[in-house]
Amino acid sequence: MRVVITIGGSIMIKEYDHQKFEEYAHLLSSLKDEHEIFVVVGGGQPARDYIKIARALGCGEAHCDDIGIEVTRLNAKLLIMALGNDAYPLVPENFHQALAYSTTDKIVVMGGTEPAHSTDAVGAILAEYVKADLLVNLTSVDGLYDKDPHQHADAQMFEEVTAAQMMEFLADKEVKAGTYEFFDKTAIQMIQRSRIKTVIVNGYQPENLLKALHEKIGTRIVPED
Ligand code: UTP
Repeated sequence: MRVVITIGGSIMIKEYDHQKFEEYAHLLSSLKDEHEIFVVVGGGQPARDYIKIARALGCGEAHCDDIGIEVTRLNAKLLIMALGNDAYPLVPENFHQALAYSTTDKIVVMGGTEPAHSTDAVGAILAEYVKADLLVNLTSVDGLYDKDPHQHADAQMFEEVTAAQMMEFLADKEVKAGTYEFFDKTAIQMIQRSRIKTVIVNGYQPENLLKALHEKIGTRIVPED
């Protein structure tokens, strides 16, 4: 199976240590012979911290995004180092580089590409380019809920939503550097137009990736008819 996996920066960098990089490297290496794997890593708190500094310096949104992109690439580089020989040694800066690097049998790991979206969108666009069988979004919540599960004990998680329902859910969310929360609209549009099979799942437990490959966990986004 050809799989694009996006890993939220808040998963990788939560404790500012090497642990999640090591855990994911181990798991991804174990999947490498069976699957063709592309990974997109997010920026997490360090990206937000740097963007905050850039904004305080008077930078516009696109420049703030550029700063965030640099941090995602740094995180991608760390995962490449953790993967050692199983990863292509360079971080692609755009999709064509990602395609070029994927002609080897190595795992391709990248971060952001250009301003105005998050690494969720990078994952969805990459999934279009490589005609991925599955897009797995490893994030900091278990899936999509009908209301904020941190504030409402009776919040229900959806096992399946349509891309249109996701769009509705994101309608009132902010579109500013460092604030592309949960999932971004560009990603949904890609999923919708190319009918990309997608699973959103909690990435704090790396083993959830294995369950996601069988679509047995989290929230599935289905492109509606
Ligand atoms: P993330 O994709 O990590 O954003 O990119 P996020 O969703 O806010 O954070 P986590 O990782 O899920 O916690 C960090 C920032 O980098 C910029 C955006 O400003 C984004 O908020 N970025 C990233 C881009 O502008 N373009 C990209 O392709 C990727």
